[in-house]
Amino acid sequence: MCGIVGYLGYRDAYPVLTDGLKQLEYRGYDSAGVALSDDRGNLRVYKEKGKVADLENYAADKDKSGHLGIAHTRWATHGEPCARNAHPHVSASGRFAIVHNGIIENYPVLRTNLEAKGYVFQSSTDTEALVQLIDYIAAQTASDTVSVLQTALKMVVGAYAVALIDRNSPDRLYAARKSSPLAVGIGESEFFIASDMNPISCYTDKVVYLEDGEIAEMSCAGGLRIVNLDNAECSHEIHKVPKNLGMVQKGGFEHFMLKEIFEQPDCIRDCMRGRVNPGDKTVTLSSVREFRDRLLSAGRFIIVACGTSWHAGLIGKQLLESLCRIPAEVVYASEFRYSNPVIHDTDVVVAISQSGETADTLAAIELAKQKGAFIYGICNAVGSSIPRITDAGSYIHAGPEIGVASTKAFTGQVAVLVMLALDLAREKGTIDDICYARTVEALDSIPDKMKSVLKENGRIASLAKIFTYARNFIYLGRGYSYPVALEGALKLKEISYIHAEGYPAAEMKHGPIALIDDEMPVVIIAAGNALYDKILNNVQEIKARKGRVIAIVTEGDDVISKIADTVIEIPQTEECLTPLLSVIPLQMLAYHIAVCKGKDVDRPRNLAKSVTVE
Ligand code: M6R
Repeated sequence: MCGIVGYLGYRDAYPVLTDGLKQLEYRGYDSAGVALSDDRGNLRVYKEKGKVADLENYAADKDKSGHLGIAHTRWATHGEPCARNAHPHVSASGRFAIVHNGIIENYPVLRTNLEAKGYVFQSSTDTEALVQLIDYIAAQTASDTVSVLQTALKMVVGAYAVALIDRNSPDRLYAARKSSPLAVGIGESEFFIASDMNPISCYTDKVVYLEDGEIAEMSCAGGLRIVNLDNAECSHEIHKVPKNLGMVQKGGFEHFMLKEIFEQPDCIRDCMRGRVNPGDKTVTLSSVREFRDRLLSAGRFIIVACGTSWHAGLIGKQLLESLCRIPAEVVYASEFRYSNPVIHDTDVVVAISQSGETADTLAAIELAKQKGAFIYGICNAVGSSIPRITDAGSYIHAGPEIGVASTKAFTGQVAVLVMLALDLAREKGTIDDICYARTVEALDSIPDKMKSVLKENGRIASLAKIFTYARNFIYLGRGYSYPVALEGALKLKEISYIHAEGYPAAEMKHGPIALIDDEMPVVIIAAGNALYDKILNNVQEIKARKGRVIAIVTEGDDVISKIADTVIEIPQTEECLTPLLSVIPLQMLAYHIAVCKGKDVDRPRNLAKSVTVE
């Protein structure tokens, strides 16, 4: 949540900052702002409600010169989205400007104390308490900026990534982090800071990731210095990152979400490359080779994740239990961290995250690490925080996912979980050779089958027009299709704002059936299910109450297709692989309903792509 960019060097800072913000808009987009400093320390601050484009319009005719600056795109936590609450916030004396990602949890106390000392606050944000505190300490101590920051940050409870400029040091850029990501890019006589490396990678391939409790001081003359809050010098590794990661284009699609839905066959191919060998029908994950004994001796797998990644985790549990006969649990990371969970040092905790930055998932990992569990990460964003703190893991290699509603990351996560379970099952001897080879072969054919599902896009677009009236949707599935039902419902909620709930199909009778009438659309995933006959009964029950059934069935189905109002066919595959195909029509249905309703599909209200606060 919230994107931060900073620049110090020989270029005009403003275009570097606003181009960087555009690449970070997935983190928040309710307001944006920039602070620029000239060589004498004169600060100019421009802020606007809305997206980065709104800020650019607002600043179009303003003085935007300066080679030093910080900028921010916001996802509101404290205080409504408006220009007044937008970052940067400037201290009362006008000396400091700050941008912040995270939450200063003790801001009410800090604010009250500062108000008692005469500080008048301009915004409702927690961030302003920090910049006023910095201002106050600077005035009291006359120390250098880094010492002032160290004193202030020691008084802060909460999470932060901050970038700061000081009018008295116009040749320096400052940054600090605790529990929120921040990367420093090192160029030739220039420095960049950003919440992820995408904006930086346009200019340099040298990146340092700040660790918790570190402060970076950058100057073109003096270079990069990193110290901790006790002023001990911190060594820092310079990572090499691929150039030009950012600025992903829509490639002719109307929205990133649709582009990402259509990228899924290629993403799954990339995800399997070097892992699935169709020739000898084997799956090999390098992490399983490297940590074979630790993984095979696990007493239990605990999967922690949030949102869509949690839905992938539910599929992972079924895979691990059915193929590997390893007990597995799936817990919301937000619940896990506060539930005083029983964790043994023989447990393997699998953390699933597209962004690799989700605050709750990071906290769950830290807790599990303290208790001695082995941590396995399944992430998309390369170099993000989760892969850097896990013991082992697998990237899903889906490429940047820009649409806030996760699509290709979900299928990538499921593909990795399938490969993990197959590889472990083979090593454990819990899968017979025929079943193993058949499943590997079926996995290898998934990208082509996805392409055939994507051909339904036009028909689903027409279908969507019929359902824009709906105020509620029900999604039903059993076994591997139950998490897909949850995921389909989440997609619809997120981008169309239609209320939707997913249930295990058999649970319908225990309550939700009361909701069914001739206006209630029910999406039911019947494809490839061992309990087909029972699902057929559910369809009959819904039709008997005049519900409108949209059924996802296997090609050639001639039973449910005769009863349902609409059917969408998907190719036949192994049951455990069905989610990789059946989720696609649900993604497309949600997308087209949202488009028909005129919603901002890629940037739905109130959401952000990366949830870096609790
Ligand atoms: O980056 P993560 O996978 O850790 O994110 C978890 C959730 O915030 C995310 O899946 C969210 O639910 C998406 N908006 C779903 O489309």
